[in-house]
Formats: sequence, C-alpha cells, structure tokens
Amino acid sequence: MTQQTRKTATQDWDKAGWRAYPRVQMPDYTDPAALAGVESQLRRYPPLVFAGEARRLRAQLADAAAGRAFLLQGGDCAESFSEFSADNLRDTFKVLLQMAVVLTWGAQMPVIKVGRMAGQFAKPRSAPTEVMDGVELPSYRGDIINGFDFTPEARIPDPTRMLAAYTQAAASLNLLRAFSTGGFADMHRVQSWIADFVGGPEAARYRDIAGRIGDAMAFMQAAGVNSDTAHQLSKVDFYTSHEALLLEYEEALARIDSTTGLPVAGSGHMIWIGDRTRQPDGAHVEFCRGVQNPIGLKCGPTTTADDLKVLMAKLNPANEAGRLTLIARFGAGKVGDHLPRLIRAVQDEGANVVWSCDPMHGNVIKSSTGYKTRAFDSILREVREFFGVHKAEGTIPGGVHFEMTGKDVTECTGGVRAVTDEDLSDRYHTACDPRLNASQSLELAFLVAEELRARREDAAPMRTAAAI
Ligand code: PEP
Ligand code: CO
Repeated sequence: MTQQTRKTATQDWDKAGWRAYPRVQMPDYTDPAALAGVESQLRRYPPLVFAGEARRLRAQLADAAAGRAFLLQGGDCAESFSEFSADNLRDTFKVLLQMAVVLTWGAQMPVIKVGRMAGQFAKPRSAPTEVMDGVELPSYRGDIINGFDFTPEARIPDPTRMLAAYTQAAASLNLLRAFSTGGFADMHRVQSWIADFVGGPEAARYRDIAGRIGDAMAFMQAAGVNSDTAHQLSKVDFYTSHEALLLEYEEALARIDSTTGLPVAGSGHMIWIGDRTRQPDGAHVEFCRGVQNPIGLKCGPTTTADDLKVLMAKLNPANEAGRLTLIARFGAGKVGDHLPRLIRAVQDEGANVVWSCDPMHGNVIKSSTGYKTRAFDSILREVREFFGVHKAEGTIPGGVHFEMTGKDVTECTGGVRAVTDEDLSDRYHTACDPRLNASQSLELAFLVAEELRARREDAAPMRTAAAI
C-alpha cells in the first residue's frame, strides 16, 4: 500500500519538473552554456549518499515521531570553501557526538545524529543586494553560488562552484564515514571528552550529569557488555543534511534508487525546505515532494495552519512516519503564539511528523558592537518554550536543530565561558549566521538533557499508573 501510494505520488513527478514553478532565492546564471556543462558533469558523478541510508534515516526518524528516539541536527549555518579542513570536520563531529551522548542520557533513548554538513552551502538571504560604504552589490548566497568577498566579480553567480561544492562534500563525507566507524566515535572516548569539559571550573554545574553518564558506562563495562555490544559502542550512524535551495544542483544529483525504483536526492541523507522557500506552489516544494529522502520543513511565525496542511499533504501524501520533520523556528517569547496552532493543524490532519526545535533563526540580533549575534539565553529560552508547549499539548518534542561548530569561535554571546558583545570581534568567522562554539554547544546539550530528563520524570508516574 505504502509502496503503491509512493509510486502514485511520483508518477506525476519529474526531477526537472520544478523548472515550471515559481522559484525564489535562486541565482540567475548569466552563462547558460557553462551552467549546462556543470549540470551534465554532475549528472554523471556518483551520488554522495545511497538510497538505503536515506531509508534507514527515515526509519529512525519514524521512531522520533513516536517518541522512541530524539533527533540532534547541527552544524554550520553555511559551510565555506575557505574553512574546509579535516580539523574543522573532526571538531564539529566530535562536539556533535558529545552532545549526542549527553542527550542520550537525558532522553534515555537513541539520539539520531544528523550534521548540517557535506552539502550545506547555499543560503537564502533577506535582501537581494547588500550595501557597504555606499556601494551596492548582489548579496552573498553561499559558496556554492557566489563569493563572500565584497567585489562585483565575486558576487557573480558561478556554476563551476557547484563542482567545487560537490568535491568538498564528497571529501567531507569520506572523512565523516571514517570517523563514524573507525574507532574515533568510541563511546568511552566521547565520555572522556565530556569529562574534560566539566573538569574546568566553569562547568561545575554539569559535573553531576557527567558523573552519572560515567557511572552508566562503568556499569555497562562491569556488567560485561559482550563483544558485539562493545563493537556497537565504537561506531555510530551519522547522517548529512542541508537546505535544498540550489535546485540545479539537487536535480543533477537526483537518482533512481535501484531497490525501490523511486527517485532519491543523492546530495545528502536529509534535505530541508527553508522558511523563505516553502511556498506550497513553488519550485522547492515541487522538487522535494518527489524524492524519498526524509524532508525537513522550516516553520516560522508566518507559517499558516492552512499552508502547513497543504504542505503536509504534498510532501507526505501517504502520511509515513519519518518522512517529514517540522522544524519550528519562531524566536524566544514567540513559541507560545505560534506552535500551538501548528500542532493543532498537524493533529487535525492526523499527520505523522517529527517536531524539532531550531532556536537559532528566530533569535538573531545586532549586538551593541555591530555584529549579528544570538544570545545563549534566548536560544535556551526558545528550547524550553518548545518543550513547554509540547507538554501542554500532550505532543512529542522530537528533536533539536542548532547552528554550531567545534571551533572556539566568538559568534553567539553568553554561556558558562561567557562571550560578551566586546568579545565578538575576536574570532567571528562565520560565512553567514552566528554559531554556538564547542563549549556553548555542549552546555546547551546539558541543559536540553535536563529538560528531557524532567519530561521523562513527569511522564513516569503516569506510565506506572497505567501499568497497574
Ligand atoms: C538556515 O537553516 O540556515 C536558515 C536559513 O533557516 P530558515 O530557513 O529557518 O531561516
Ligand atoms: Co542560518
């Protein structure tokens, strides 16, 4: 039945069909021959991910929809060519693993690890042009499209950048796959990194949780985890994701899955539709509805219940769990105004979704020193509001979505190793939005873990009563 419905959904779909729909936030390439050359090259390249992996992620997300797993999605706002290095990949991967262990402790369930990595290159912008010292130029749209430098030449969209992005994504995935399975991700190792963090004077308040995680690990070892389990603990499933913004690139990497005969995006395991490109009759929704990968949909303050219903019907006509993740991004103080009505829209439709919280994109402010920043406290507040609304509605908070890096940058303010407005200029390296640094990311994971733990403790007496 499911297979049948999916076939029906894709019978009227073609990977180039989006071209007939209104498009926003995409570049107008000036040299059609150069663009066509790049597209035909990408069509011949191997896909970056395999359909079976995307299906496995979908199955795991189905668990998150049902409250049996928790999604952790994170990485750069925009990956860049200049920040590309093995060390940067390792450091971000490492922090994601640390966060995942802390969240596993909090949620007491598997944490699904999805990087905003190996493909997160294209950016929607709030304005098509940017003015600096009286000079107006087209906005920077991510390294896959044009250059960051404020010069007329750099800002011309260049299709050959897609080839550079593909190469970087392939090399990133190669290393991430090695890290995931080659011993780097060993749980015992990850736990010792966490212990290093809480060993510092600032992180004393997290020592108790870290100690309890350490005890759990020690217990497992003492209880004699068999060699199969030990092997399991030394590797992780790690997935990649990005915003499917540049549809020429997405189309060229779309493939037919030989197992199911269905189309799949070969550019990453999960792709999402941004808050600025989610028009129900637009090109981005048209492309995404036809590929079988898990799809994310950003929901912001302007998302209406009616639009959401149409979007859910288009993107997940068979209502399969794990297919659609709704990524709420309203801003601290606004979750209560918007999330309840969208949760009700989901409930009206009986729709199967994962609810994830992106506490980054509704919380961008300009600091007193002129930098675009986000305050740690606002980020945390939005996460707490998200959990609070789900508790009140009796629904499941299924995951979190962060912009973060493993580097010690100074882009967001606050945290135990406090970054102030004055510090922002020290190591402000982002190509787009401000990211949490390694310490802020891990701290946030501890605080989210406390929320998850409290939620479980609230739920526990009910479960006991039901069992009786
Ligand atoms: C992003 O995730 O980087 C982004 C631009 O988000 P949104 O579409 O929610 O604004
Ligand atoms: Co961003």
